[in-house]
Amino acid sequence: MTIPRGGGRTRDRLIDIDVLPRLETRSLGRRLHVYRTVDSTNGLLRGEAFWNAPAGTVIAAEEQRKGRGRLDRVWEAPPFRALLFSVLIEPRGGTEEAALANLVAALAVADAVADGGGPSLRIRWPNDLVADDRKVCGILSEYRSDRGALVIGIGLNVNQEKGELPPAASSLRTITGRAFVRAPLLAGILNRLEAHLDELGARGFEPLRARIEERSSLPGRTVTLDLGGGRTLIATAIGIGPSGGLVVSAPDGPREVLAGEVTRVLSSESDS
Ligand code: BTN
Repeated sequence: MTIPRGGGRTRDRLIDIDVLPRLETRSLGRRLHVYRTVDSTNGLLRGEAFWNAPAGTVIAAEEQRKGRGRLDRVWEAPPFRALLFSVLIEPRGGTEEAALANLVAALAVADAVADGGGPSLRIRWPNDLVADDRKVCGILSEYRSDRGALVIGIGLNVNQEKGELPPAASSLRTITGRAFVRAPLLAGILNRLEAHLDELGARGFEPLRARIEERSSLPGRTVTLDLGGGRTLIATAIGIGPSGGLVVSAPDGPREVLAGEVTRVLSSESDS
């Protein structure tokens, strides 16, 4: 659903009653808390106030004071423009399934954006969504070992204009030239996420792996990977492996990198 021309300037408020009727889920989003301003939706859902919240609880906010990104980065977005939310899940398959839930969340966002008439986004392993190599969505999943739960935090750039974005980022609006209503998008993401997580539990990772690989922006391209601890690897990406890692062709042969961050993509998407 799109906002009529010029509608990006009217305030698109995120209200639970616009989201709830669009949910097709059993549990995701059935308990939905929408705040005007919080420090971080991930922080709130991991904290004491939501200690006993049931699986499926979602916290969304119009603005975050201390939005968190991966590797201790900050995540910033102007109020009312982005979708900023966190989902509490309890993966039945423990930590292994939790690691895959990350990737599956990226697929859910890409699918829901396409369902909603948005652009076709690509997945940049492990879980960024990009268009023309510009970041449109970031995902930060944090494990709650106290109860084997996972908080999946999603920041999707929806209606930001060019001047409101970092240089290497874009939004659904800058890509398509039109504004999007965020409530149906949020419902669509939760619908897709629950369906994909159910599929992961019932059929395993393989069918989802193939779909993630199809949407992946990296295969065939040379990437620089930060492996942590000061180690980097320059290699050609091949695909997504059975454990959700990035399969690369490295100087010493093919291998699946399970944890890391792509810091540079050396060849352009059209070259691959
Ligand atoms: C990344 O670095 O790419 C991950 C960014 C994740 C941002 C989202 S916004 C909602 C949720 N709350 C946070 O504090 N972070 C995540």
